Amino acid sequence: MTDSPSATRTGASTRLDRLDRLVHEVRDVVRQGLPPGRTAGLVGDRLAPHLGTGDLLTDRQCEGDDGHYRQHVLHAEEDGGFSIVSLVWLPGQHTSIHDHVSWCVTGVHEGREHERRYDLVPGEPAGRLVATRDVVNDRGEVCGFAPPGDIHRVWNGGTGKAVSLHVYGADITRLGTSIRRVYRSPEDER
Ligand SMILES: [Fe+2]
Repeated sequence: MTDSPSATRTGASTRLDRLDRLVHEVRDVVRQGLPPGRTAGLVGDRLAPHLGTGDLLTDRQCEGDDGHYRQHVLHAEEDGGFSIVSLVWLPGQHTSIHDHVSWCVTGVHEGREHERRYDLVPGEPAGRLVATRDVVNDRGEVCGFAPPGDIHRVWNGGTGKAVSLHVYGADITRLGTSIRRVYRSPEDER
């Protein structure tokens, strides 16, 4: 489920100010044309100070959905260089195991997110996933990814709502999603 940017950008002017500042800061990094891993690192540095602040998101941009984690598009750069979304997770909601079409930076704005990372080990017919690391991200923490090797699953393992900001090096409003590929869970195959 996705709100259009115009639908979500109707809050008080101070909220637009902080979101606009973040957009300008991300744009300044992306326009340097650095390698994806370096870009993700610098975007994470710019995102971190805004996380957890009361004037970054409107109430609507923090609304969840009982059926599935919810995405609100906050900004899509006109030239397709990057996009910013908020993702809202109610307790127990989770993603598939997936990787991404571009570099990606995530930052926790409210609550706590759990993440499991995987390696794809070569083999027949399409390789085998091996869980490599479990990570818990608290409010204010950022993670950067750049393909390949960015396979993971994210879920809300807590009892309250979780909200995170995600910045992608692509216009996901044109692509429809940031996900490149969905993988079958090795836990389900046991
Ligand atoms: Fe992801």
